Formats: sequence, structure tokens, C-alpha cells
Amino acid sequence: MTAMPKMDAFWMPFSSNKNFRANPRMIAGAKDMYYHDINGRKMLDACAGLWCCNAGHCRDHIVAAIQKQATELDFSPVFQYAHPKVFEFSEMLADFFPDPLNTVFLANSGSEAADSSLKIALAYHRLRGKGEKQLFIGRERGYHGVGFGGISVGGMVKNRLWFGNQMLRVDHLPHTQSGIAKNTRGEAADGGEEKANKLLDIIGLHDASTIAAVIVEPVAGSAGVLPPPKGYLKRLREICDEHDILLIYDEVITAFGRLGKSSAAEYFGVVPDILNFAKGATSGTVPLGGNVIRDEIRQTFLDAASGSAIDLFHGYTYSGHPLAVAAGIATLELYEKEGLMERGAEMVKYFEEGIHSLKDHPHVIDTRNIGFMGGIDLAPTAGKPGEKAMTVMEDCFHNRDLVIRVAADTIAVSPPLIMEKTHIDQTIDTIGAALKALK
Ligand SMILES: Cc1ncc(COP(=O)(O)O)c(C=O)c1O
Repeated sequence: MTAMPKMDAFWMPFSSNKNFRANPRMIAGAKDMYYHDINGRKMLDACAGLWCCNAGHCRDHIVAAIQKQATELDFSPVFQYAHPKVFEFSEMLADFFPDPLNTVFLANSGSEAADSSLKIALAYHRLRGKGEKQLFIGRERGYHGVGFGGISVGGMVKNRLWFGNQMLRVDHLPHTQSGIAKNTRGEAADGGEEKANKLLDIIGLHDASTIAAVIVEPVAGSAGVLPPPKGYLKRLREICDEHDILLIYDEVITAFGRLGKSSAAEYFGVVPDILNFAKGATSGTVPLGGNVIRDEIRQTFLDAASGSAIDLFHGYTYSGHPLAVAAGIATLELYEKEGLMERGAEMVKYFEEGIHSLKDHPHVIDTRNIGFMGGIDLAPTAGKPGEKAMTVMEDCFHNRDLVIRVAADTIAVSPPLIMEKTHIDQTIDTIGAALKALK
């Protein structure tokens, strides 16, 4: 049992601080599929932390690696110096992601990974004598973290509203949900080519000679689990190739097994020029984000650098931090040992059936899934968007021993990949009961 702490000083991000203080949802410990609260009450984690604890919580192999690293090397710079494990981890990531994504740049979060990808794209074009290519194309309802780069190319209105669009050279593709049938499983229906062709209109407006890159989440996560329609990413790739525009995938959620494959690039069979990752890279244990980058881009930087000149003026004090890298190596080892990247069609099917079994429950207006990402939309209460889903979340936490995530009126389900069928049953039954209890 842990005492309830004083809650005056900490400003919780993306939270109603007033609501939390009135009725705290305090998490004090975790193991495998479960959290426990300050009274020792066990709760099932149905969203892998924040889409990140893909190997489950406090796994012995990862914990031991972090502990050992803390005693061996607490910190080493990676500007002009380095330590062996950062190279070892990068080689593992280069093997993990599809070719030709073989160069790894490290940061501490998904937001920093987004910034790095945008800067690398700009610098790459400049080195090729195409410095006028400075415009970025994001997508409505996209989420790329909270840096000024990420919120500018992102498309979630509340995340930009109070801060403005400080990176002015951006435009946005339409989101992929309009006209999509309800209750989709996997890729959302046909029509992907047509939706991707909207990029041609944007190119027509600005001219390809001014456009640096297109950045999209292969499956939009934070906006409420929005799988792309069939053929969408393939067509985006073709258009980008035709117009010398880089394609950046933000795989902060989709990489490391969330779709039942190592990455969305592998799942969809369409490889970007830069792939951003974070979250699952260390199973959420130590902050780490980064990018894997196409060979030709890296080579351009190496070719351009003469003598001992710095080849990229970008990086973070904690890029490749020893603790994060040790956690990353152990995480990849565990994923491999337990086959967590390929939990198999059978488990995805079971998860899928579970999510869609909620489609006729009270308040539900849509259910969707792709791999182990599930979205359940509730009909919003007039004038109070998000209130229903929040009520379900609070009820699940306080009364039903289940931790879920909500975005507006969508309930998002994304369990750790070590889940068993019984965990899926418990998740679905509990959400179902909470929906029936909802006024
Ligand atoms: C697709 C995507 N990109 C970027 C981020 C930002 O990551 P972080 O919160 O680690 O900065 C997130 C976080 O949820 C994300 O889902």
C-alpha cells in the first residue's frame, strides 16, 4: 500500500488536472499484463501503457539489462564520442526494419523523432542542390507529437489551436475516413488510390519543386484508430517517387508488432524513405525514439561532408543514452525470443472478433480494427464531446479493474502483445458491461 501523494506541483500533460485531483487514477506498480493501484488492486492494462509496453510490464530480461547498464556506464556523449551499445542497437534496428532503411538516428521521444525526420528531409534536398524543396504535406487528423514541427504537419485541431501553426510551409492531405463503411476489419474498404490522388491536387497547387516530404501515420492512432483504405499507401509512394518527394512514415504506434508484423511498412509492403519510431522500441521502459533512414539519403550526407566536418547539425544530449539503448537491445531480444512481432493470424482474428462483438452495444456507432489496434466509437452527447468515453474510462478504472484509453468519444484498445485470449475476453466483457451501465 502506498500513500496518496500531494498533487499540487505536477502539471499532468493532456489531462484534466481538476478532474484527476478530484478522483485520482493512480498507478503504483505493474507486472506483465497488469497494473496495480496504491491499494494493491490489480487492473488489466488493455492499452499497453500508451501504446508502448508491447512486451508487457516489468519484464525480467529488460529490467536486468537496465539495472546492469546503470552500474556499468551511466552516460556517454554521442557527439564526437560514442559507446559500443549504441552501434549494436542500431545494427539490430537496421536488421529489424525493411531494406533499404539501414541508418538509425536516435532521439528520446516520438515528437523528437518527428522533428528529426523533417530536418533530415530538408537538409537532404539542400545537399542535392534542391534547397527550395521546403514544404511539408501532413494529413488531417494526423498526430506527430507536440513539437512545433509535429503540430504543424499534424492535423489535430486542439493540439494547434492555442499555439498557431508556427511552421508555415505546410499543407495537409484530407483524412482517409470520409465515405468509409462502418465496422471495417483491417484495411478500410477500397478507394485508397482515389484518396491518395488528392496529393496530386496539392502538388498542382504548390509545384513539386517546392515540396520536401509527405508525412503520414500508416494507421492514424491518436485520432482514434483510422486504418487506410486499400492501395492508399502504395499510391502515395508512387506519387512521391514520380515527383522527387520523400515519404515519411510515423510508426511511433504501428512499429514493433502492433499490426501483427514488425512494422506497418512490412504489413502494407510499402517502404518509406524515413520511418519514425519510439514507444515499443524499449517497450516503454526508458524514453527512446528515432528514425530509420534509406541508404541513399545517408550516402548523400556522407558524400557531401569533407574532412572532419560535421555531416548533420542535429542531435540530442540523450540520443542513444546508454540506459535507453540497453533497454532497446533487451526489448528486441525479448520480442525475438517470444515471437511477439508475429503473434499469428489466429490471435489477431480473436482480437478482431472481440472488438466487433461490441458493435451492437448501447451507444456504439462504429467498431474498427487493424492488427492489435481496436477503435470503438460512441455517439457523442450533444454539446459534450468526449464525455461518454471518459465516463466509460473512469468506470472501468474505478469499478471494473480495467485500464483503457480514450480519444474524444473513441475507446482505443491496444493490449500488450503478450496477451492471452482470456485477457481479450476480460477486456471486451468489461467494456461491454460499462457500456450497458452508461446512461
Ligand atoms: C504517431 C505518433 N507520433 C508521435 C507521437 C509522439 O510521441 P511522444 O509522446 O513520445 O513525443 C505519438 C504519441 O502518441 C504518436 O502516436
